[in-house]
Amino acid sequence: MRENDLRELLEDMSLKEKIGQLTQLDASCFNDEGPVTGPASALGIAEEDIFLCGSVLGSAGAAETEALQRMCMAKQPHGIPLLLMADIINGYKTIFPIPLAQGCSFDPQVAHKSAEIMAKEAAVAGLHVTFAPMVDLVRDARWGRVMESTGEDPYLNSLMAAAMVQGIQGNEKNYQDRLAACTKHFAAYGAPIAGKEYNNVELSDRSLREDHLPSYKAAVDAGSAMMMTSFNTIDRVPATANKYLMRQILREEMGFDGVLISDWNAVGELIEHGVAENPHQAAELAISAGVDMDMMSGCYMRGLEQLVQQGIISEQLIDESVWRLLQLKNHIGLFENPFRSASDLKELEMILSEGHRQAAREIAAKTFVLLKNEEKILPLEHNDSVAFIGPYIEEKTILGAWSFFGRAEDCISIREAIEARGVQAEYEQGCSILNPGQALYGFRYNTENKFTESEIDKMIIAAVGLAAKRDKVVLALGESNLHTGEGGSRGDIAIPDIQNKLLDAVYEVNKNIIVLVFAGRPLDIRDIKEKAKAILYVWMPGTEGGNAIADTIYGDFVPQAKLSMSLPYSVGQVPVFYSEMRTGRHTEDGAEPTNRFLTKYCDIPNDPLYPFGFGLSYTDFAISPIRLSSNKLTMDTMVKATVTVKNCGSREGTETVQLYIRDDYASVARPTRELKGIRQIRLAPGNEVEVDFEIDASMLRFYDINMEYRAQPGDFTVWIGNDSKTENKACFTLV
Ligand code: GLC
Repeated sequence: MRENDLRELLEDMSLKEKIGQLTQLDASCFNDEGPVTGPASALGIAEEDIFLCGSVLGSAGAAETEALQRMCMAKQPHGIPLLLMADIINGYKTIFPIPLAQGCSFDPQVAHKSAEIMAKEAAVAGLHVTFAPMVDLVRDARWGRVMESTGEDPYLNSLMAAAMVQGIQGNEKNYQDRLAACTKHFAAYGAPIAGKEYNNVELSDRSLREDHLPSYKAAVDAGSAMMMTSFNTIDRVPATANKYLMRQILREEMGFDGVLISDWNAVGELIEHGVAENPHQAAELAISAGVDMDMMSGCYMRGLEQLVQQGIISEQLIDESVWRLLQLKNHIGLFENPFRSASDLKELEMILSEGHRQAAREIAAKTFVLLKNEEKILPLEHNDSVAFIGPYIEEKTILGAWSFFGRAEDCISIREAIEARGVQAEYEQGCSILNPGQALYGFRYNTENKFTESEIDKMIIAAVGLAAKRDKVVLALGESNLHTGEGGSRGDIAIPDIQNKLLDAVYEVNKNIIVLVFAGRPLDIRDIKEKAKAILYVWMPGTEGGNAIADTIYGDFVPQAKLSMSLPYSVGQVPVFYSEMRTGRHTEDGAEPTNRFLTKYCDIPNDPLYPFGFGLSYTDFAISPIRLSSNKLTMDTMVKATVTVKNCGSREGTETVQLYIRDDYASVARPTRELKGIRQIRLAPGNEVEVDFEIDASMLRFYDINMEYRAQPGDFTVWIGNDSKTENKACFTLV
């Protein structure tokens, strides 16, 4: 539609119709029991008003979305089409690894490809926007939604955020054959106190800006069409009512001019936060803070009209939000074609196609982190005598907690993949995922352990009997799919005790144990590290997880992933991350244990069990000392840092070479080191290659003592290595 016509449409709309456009309702409000009996009535929205809503979330499928669109447009005073949105985070029907695993690929192309296929499948299913990417920085493994993030580092998260937005939206102006992205959750939802879901966030403005905001900025710069507010407070002001966050930072500083939507009922929750006394006041705070669309609270529908009539807010404020929404709908082409890419024929052709499955299989393998491989017990040979044991051997719910439209039955389990290879193997479940009597309750399904203790004892005995007969054991363990995701905060981040019991029993009869860890978060795997000769952290690998695991443990694929989030020694260390600030008594490795007056624990190590950036291969890479083109850098020159990387092993493999920099002295305390560059190189055995990083002053900027974002002259240390603990370093000075 031409912009003038769009303007005329806006001018012709009643106030009530405009407010309706700023309301998003869940598809369940339009179910066949009739809207009034659905959740809409709980929101205080009368049946005749429900069709005024501008957007619906959670409907999917070409036929379903088309029917919903037709029904609502027919009842819309101006026939304005709905904006159809849904949570499609790591796949629509072809499910890719959870984003935390995708972060471990250290490869933006992995994120881009997953997002592209995800968007294409959802587009033919009639969707217009996805509530993704989630780009919240995460450093507390107790929080259940770490699985949705790409990890603990601002630089890596920024690369991944941009790649996901570009994959979701494509290059076409109107996201043709793709979706519009709704980046979330603005801001710093990933830093709740104590890792407790929805908890408050206490950050300095400097930490907010240096650690948490870069990934949102990267998504905005990549053109994200929408942004979602977060449930948490920033500086004790709920994000959804936070003018500083939304108008100053997001709109003014970042230049975001897209549609800002609240999270589910986040406007209504301003009352729970204690900053609004009623829905009217909640609506006033949110619209004043710049929240364009109210997701499932009803506060806008119930309160805005009266606020305008009372002169408390101006209609112009509402017009601004409605204009942004109409522009987005127009941009997507909904006025010309409200059904857009929806096609049940294309759904049949495209969804879970062989090509998409192959892509999911290749991508999943690139996310598995090899943490240990003693005696090079991996990869296995096809004629190895192997027992496959554990609750995840036949488990197909390996999609991650935010895969609403994916189906476990479409997943390939480890057993199915091994059998498909024609490998001689025997299998025993050994125990349940959850402890006896344990249950977990999710959005769409619940899970519980149905076995009695005596049944499990028999399962363990059978597993031990098999383990005793075979040379090697592949033991597939892990937390449940529902241990992470929204509402999945845990106070203990170990695998269920019943699985440790199985591990101990198997270890008694067979020491050649290879453990596969299924998880949505970094877990406390100290005991596994003690007893396993090899550990492959496979996260929640998605639809092709079993095949990707088989490809990896039998060596068709050589592991190359690196941890995107530190694996803590224990939950007591959490939050633990590589780029911690120095302190006045910073502990250096090897400090005298008798010296208690240092920044450390007296009962556990300071270092995580496995650090950010760590991951092994089936081959070995040597990285030479750093060569600097100069040890002096000026504000407008560049220093080149070069290393030679050699494959010293017997297999071709890929290494992720990482560049870290520390500002040795500055006007404020600075992190011990920060990731500033990544190079992925693939080398055949015996080959070597020079790897260059260009360092310039823009990489050294930070918020100084006056909160000015600039680089400060002085000494810097640079490291280049294959994880965040590398000591391969050199020094230069910024003059
Ligand atoms: C949820 C989540 C958000 C999701 C939204 C819609 O509460 O916080 O990530 O996109 O509601 O389902």
